[in-house]
Amino acid sequence: MIDPNAFYAGGIAVRTYDLFVEGGAFEGDVDFYRACTRRFGRTVLELGAGTGRIAIPLAQDGCAVTGLDLAPAMLDLAARRIAALPSEAAARIDLVQGDMADFDLKKTFDWIVIAARAFQHLIEPVQQRAALDAMHRHLKPGGHVVMHLFDPRLEFCLPDAPAPQQAREVWDPAAGCRVRRTIIARHNDPLRQVVGERMRLETFDQAGTVVATEETSWALRWTLRQEMTWLLELCGFQPVEQWSDFHGAPPAYGKEQIWVARAA
Ligand SMILES: C[S@@+](CC[C@H](N)C(=O)[O-])C[C@H]1O[C@@H](n2cnc3c(N)ncnc32)[C@H](O)[C@@H]1O
Repeated sequence: MIDPNAFYAGGIAVRTYDLFVEGGAFEGDVDFYRACTRRFGRTVLELGAGTGRIAIPLAQDGCAVTGLDLAPAMLDLAARRIAALPSEAAARIDLVQGDMADFDLKKTFDWIVIAARAFQHLIEPVQQRAALDAMHRHLKPGGHVVMHLFDPRLEFCLPDAPAPQQAREVWDPAAGCRVRRTIIARHNDPLRQVVGERMRLETFDQAGTVVATEETSWALRWTLRQEMTWLLELCGFQPVEQWSDFHGAPPAYGKEQIWVARAA
């Protein structure tokens, strides 16, 4: 069984996390969430806040943001970035270590964001439901939740679907080196709707020689759109908007699921 969160424990994976998120399925997400603050309010809870990639721009726009995450290494990186901000923006962000399926912050928010598929690291339906129940308790009446998941392409969900051997490379300006991330194995469990991926991360010197390697993993639960509709409704939310990208494209098979739901 693949550890759903090994990836976030530290090392090259965490250090280069933001570099690999840029573009692709996430293109435009920061601006989308910035626009949400203008629509839904300025007190925000981000679940699975990670490195602060979303929380920091929201705080720079004047929002009071609480960022909750399970992984100390991701929170450490976020804390270092926050410490480098002007003090007024830094003071608007609180980081909390915790589990989005089991938390009690004793306050409520205008809206809650779960960006970059973080909700999909809850690999058991009971965790998904517990997280949505906790979100409902943490929203002001009529508050909103905004979530980003991928929409599963069914051929990738089959038990014998091949691992993609897909490698991506980025330049790490802080370390001054090239970094490669390769999916080296994938295991699909259609019964549980879970995909586990093993990955290798490598850094290279200027001559192209590997200088550091690590192997890690994560697991994600895929959720179909209609299943997500029922899950939101079951937990007291009314879905109000659905998109397949961050530029207003309507729902589409195999793309992204971007949900806006209101606490009923
Ligand atoms: C894909 S990253 C998203 C980070 C950030 N939201 C972003 O948009 O870049 C997923 C994050 O969810 C966190 N996470 C996974 N399971 C969690 C849980 N049960 N409770 C809280 N955070 C969790 C991971 O530690 C990781 O930081």
